[in-house]
Amino acid sequence: MMIFMWAALQSRRVAAVLLLAMITYLIVAPMTHPARAQNREPFQANLVIRADQPKGTINRNIYGHFAEHLGRLVYEGIWVGENSPIPNTRGIRNDVVAALKRLNIPVLRWPGGCFADEYRWRDGIGPRDQRPKRINTHWGGVIESGAFGTHEFMDLCEMLGTDAYIAGNVGSGTPQEMMDWIEYMTSDSDSTLANLRRRNGREKPWKIPYFGVGNENWGCGGNMRPEYYADEYRRFATYVKNYSGNRIYKIASGSSDADYKWTEVLMSQAARHMDGLSLHFYTLPTSDWSKKGSATQFGEPEWHATLVRTLRMDEFIQKHSAVMDKYDPQKRVGLMVDEWGTWYDAEPGVSKGALYQQSTMRDAVVAGLNLNIFHKHCDRVQMTNIAQLINVLQALILTDKEKMLLTPTYHVFEMYKVHQGATMIPVELTAPEYSLGQASAPSLHASASRDTTGKLHLSIVNLDPNRSAQVSVKISGTAAKNLSGRVLTAPAMNTVNTFDKPESIKPVSFTDYKMQGEQITLTLPSKSVVVLEMQ
Ligand code: AHR
Repeated sequence: MMIFMWAALQSRRVAAVLLLAMITYLIVAPMTHPARAQNREPFQANLVIRADQPKGTINRNIYGHFAEHLGRLVYEGIWVGENSPIPNTRGIRNDVVAALKRLNIPVLRWPGGCFADEYRWRDGIGPRDQRPKRINTHWGGVIESGAFGTHEFMDLCEMLGTDAYIAGNVGSGTPQEMMDWIEYMTSDSDSTLANLRRRNGREKPWKIPYFGVGNENWGCGGNMRPEYYADEYRRFATYVKNYSGNRIYKIASGSSDADYKWTEVLMSQAARHMDGLSLHFYTLPTSDWSKKGSATQFGEPEWHATLVRTLRMDEFIQKHSAVMDKYDPQKRVGLMVDEWGTWYDAEPGVSKGALYQQSTMRDAVVAGLNLNIFHKHCDRVQMTNIAQLINVLQALILTDKEKMLLTPTYHVFEMYKVHQGATMIPVELTAPEYSLGQASAPSLHASASRDTTGKLHLSIVNLDPNRSAQVSVKISGTAAKNLSGRVLTAPAMNTVNTFDKPESIKPVSFTDYKMQGEQITLTLPSKSVVVLEMQ
């Protein structure tokens, strides 16, 4: 009995000692093993804005958008019909138009995407109740009613004050159909097609400044080889005519990611017939199309991997531009990144063909990085179109019937609009790397420009989700006055705006800065996007 009691006492002592050891380890280990500790100390960085070395113009079309007949983008997101209880003007919802007008959208691409290469434009004109119904084979096999066609799209463009970028059908269409559509839209003559447009309610021709000759013709647009598409492009582009003073900028369907061969063949075989060549690149957290990753359920590894992949946009633009430079050293042909953005796995319970995804603080950072990269390459990149406008992929707006919310990506576009059409100002940034495992990204990413009224704008992204940044800023060639700005940040990497809480992420005034003489010090929160204005 005595022996048993002694043993029990000993084992309690052992347990107490073990407990004490564990507590000590949990407190001390993070201090002694920096690799395991999460460093939350602010990091230091230096930024020089080379205001005395202005470069080219940031084409405002870099702030372009994309609306495809896909999921709930066109039907519900834009078009609700004239008899809908949702307030609308000629069938187009008023809340969405009001929100989009605040972005100064310069150009809108429509009707696809993959949908463009099976779209018959004649299905979308005339009395709506007589329009043929077709199967949208790419996007879930849903019935396309044709209710939103050419007149409705052009009405939307006019409401927004935006230029139209129409994608024509090369994959399953003919040069004749393409030519007829352009005549229908743009001719002021007495031709049968121009009069058909008039009978359908539009007296004056529209201006169509941008026309895409196919889309992803290496894939959903016909699975063509580059040599074959180069010939098809030349044939179709011949019939993209300029009527009644309309002047069309012709855009050839370009490659995706690192397919430099496509660019090489198109530039060597068809450059003189085109004004622009497109490029598509989507950000997938895993870089694996079969398992892309969740839009909202992620941790720091996925955050980091997503940003590292986004930054590859810089490399792709550089390398495609280098190929283009060989055939077009004057940079006459624009590189049009007419699809970009995040692409995640479908939300549970949502049809895969609808490509609906939520948008978090991570998407805001992705948007800021891409826009900064496009500014840097403004000598070659003349247009970009984020995919897509509403309810699809990296959307700016989400709707749920009559409800509408603005995503974090919307706020970045609204904050960054000050760069539209401004002169790019180079920046030099010295900041630590943001590393995780073997991969590394810069912890900060910045871009600057000067607008036509002389105001200087700086956009700066803090990629680090844990550490704020203390940035010492110098502006060469000028002294800054009257600094003001806004910051977009969130409590967590995956904070979202929901229909119940639509303002969890929204820009607020940025006040965390000091100005002493020519020296400016900014304190940027972790995971943030900041846009500043200086006189
Ligand atoms: O944006 C969704 C789809 O992605 C487009 O229809 C297609 O061009 C691309 O593959």
